[in-house]
Amino acid sequence: MLKSEAQAKISSLRELISYHDQKYYLEDSPEITDREYDLLMQELIALETEYPEFLTEDSPSQRVGGEPLSKFNQVKHYKPLLSLGNVFGEDELRQFFQRIDNQLGSRPYEFSIEPKIDGLSIVLTYKDGYLKTAATRGNGEVGEDVTENVKTIRNVPLRIKEPLNIIIRGEAYIPKKSFEKINRVRAENQEDLFANPRNAAAGSLRQLDPKIAAKRDLRIIVYEVIHAEEKDLKSHKEELNLLINENFETVSAVYSDDKEEIIEYCMNYYEKRHDFHYEIDGLVIKLIDKNLQEELGATAKTPRWAAAYKFPAEQAETKVIGIEWNVGRSGAITPTAVLEPVKVSGSVVRRAILHNEDYITEKDIRIGDRVIIEKAGEIIPAVVRVLFEKRETDLLPPDFPDACPVCGSDAVRLPEEAVIRCTNTLSCPAQIKRSLEHFASKAGLDIKGLGRQVVFQLYDQGLIKDIADLYYLEKDQLLSQERMAEKSAQNLLDAIEDSKNRNLSQLLAALGIPLVGQKAAKILSKAFGSIDQLMKASEEELILLDDIGEKMARSIYTFFNEDHNREIIEKLRQAGVTMKEDLSPIIESDITGKTFVITGTLSSYTRTEAQALIEARGGKVSGSVSKKTDYVLYGDEAGSKLEKAQKIGVPIITETEFIDLLK
Ligand code: IVH
Repeated sequence: MLKSEAQAKISSLRELISYHDQKYYLEDSPEITDREYDLLMQELIALETEYPEFLTEDSPSQRVGGEPLSKFNQVKHYKPLLSLGNVFGEDELRQFFQRIDNQLGSRPYEFSIEPKIDGLSIVLTYKDGYLKTAATRGNGEVGEDVTENVKTIRNVPLRIKEPLNIIIRGEAYIPKKSFEKINRVRAENQEDLFANPRNAAAGSLRQLDPKIAAKRDLRIIVYEVIHAEEKDLKSHKEELNLLINENFETVSAVYSDDKEEIIEYCMNYYEKRHDFHYEIDGLVIKLIDKNLQEELGATAKTPRWAAAYKFPAEQAETKVIGIEWNVGRSGAITPTAVLEPVKVSGSVVRRAILHNEDYITEKDIRIGDRVIIEKAGEIIPAVVRVLFEKRETDLLPPDFPDACPVCGSDAVRLPEEAVIRCTNTLSCPAQIKRSLEHFASKAGLDIKGLGRQVVFQLYDQGLIKDIADLYYLEKDQLLSQERMAEKSAQNLLDAIEDSKNRNLSQLLAALGIPLVGQKAAKILSKAFGSIDQLMKASEEELILLDDIGEKMARSIYTFFNEDHNREIIEKLRQAGVTMKEDLSPIIESDITGKTFVITGTLSSYTRTEAQALIEARGGKVSGSVSKKTDYVLYGDEAGSKLEKAQKIGVPIITETEFIDLLK
């Protein structure tokens, strides 16, 4: 074949494949079989392999999935991704409209009403018309870079018609039929089943191997233009029209400025919820005028111009076959009902939350009772009421624990509290394990690969006793663990190392100080700037801060004045965990971006001082030597770290050389 012929063939194959993608995904009317489609793709790939000079980044062949990643990078969003406030029922819907009228004045405003797709938020960034990045929502400010996986999604254009710089938000989902198929295959292979399509979509999108994601029939429906450099979009309607025109699968919206009509529409929609090829968990109502949206603004997390009308929770009848008591990280011993498995809202429910002793007593729930349970969207199922008419006569109220089910210590319920607590705060294994789990979780330092199972295993094997021990783990210890191979052990060590440099607020939230969540942690880190300053604060000083009440102030004070906690913090510091907010501007120097290990005794500085000098220049200090270390700074009596550096060829420097670098 002549080169020019190959080029022409490649281009016609691409067009043909795109045409069939459109038929299949947008119009739901395929003209060829899957097999025929695969053959076109194979032909294209073969030609592109023979003539790599014609390969382009928007070729449909790029959708088969590239090489596996070792981890997902983080992506900071262009602006924080808001969520939606929920409204249940007609009254709350009226209140939503009323709030808008109160703020803007009572006039008819045009709203869009769209299905609320039960998937996960995705942000797509196009540069000059090419898909450049795709990121998950993450914490709203920073998400994960899942570009390689999203590129495999056939209904997402790799290039749009106009060469736009545009950021789009949508929902990734797996069609209900494909979900059933995935689970059928998993059942045959005796693999764990996904509870619902949403979990399947999340699990697939977070696969490090794009080839696996490519096989899962992931799709994206878009519903918002976050930013469009070249366009002046005045309403949500214009946004959606632009997206439709660019061949995205776009949420199907209807528009109305008649509130009564909208309310009626919502009320009648419940019947239609099964008509879609994907799960929906409600409707989204949006005021569409962009200027008015801006005028209304947003609260901390949700816009005032939009609301999610959630369908009523689905209920089912089942039987309570037991009550389990679990110990949380603060020692709270909370009950869970163990149920006869029953299907609700498309997933099988085996447990329901019982909150506390009073909840059980008030509802008079007994083991053996038949009950009505309810599940709304992602919310954990709850027991709504007991069917007393079906109660067998000999059922007794359940016993409440007076000892911790894990460590056996006394369990007490304080007069002002609703929960029963294990009194063994410092050494109850359940509390420690939960604290460790929390420390590594998304709400804490977000250490990838360190989920509940791994944490519990490391604890049970005696490798970690407290959070600081994580930073002293060695590869050999990890390798001795079940299901821990060379690669995963290294990934875990890297993730732990990486977690040393989180924000102070993240560290504070991770410590699990009772009553201190992410919001309070932010306030504290802003006010004090470092753990050292915070540790010096009195209760009175803490109460002076906005949003820190008496109880929380006491809790913070008590926490930092507890010897055991202080020891752990010291151990974290020794390991090189960042303990202050980096407020000072970085002094650019040869140190910026470099990782140091300090060993031995220095003569001009203490180690802490040396560390501060390095950090002020945008460098990092780590506790252990690895290939990633840039310099080992050594003083008198340096020991094994210096030896290791020499062995693996990491540059070593004296104090004098260090002082030179500082300049
Ligand atoms: S609009 C500020 N529209 O629901 C605009 N969200 O519960 C916020 N979602 O995080 C989003 N379908 O992931 C919007 N048609 C739709 C949606 C939708 C599903 C998701 C989205 C959001 C969540 C909030």
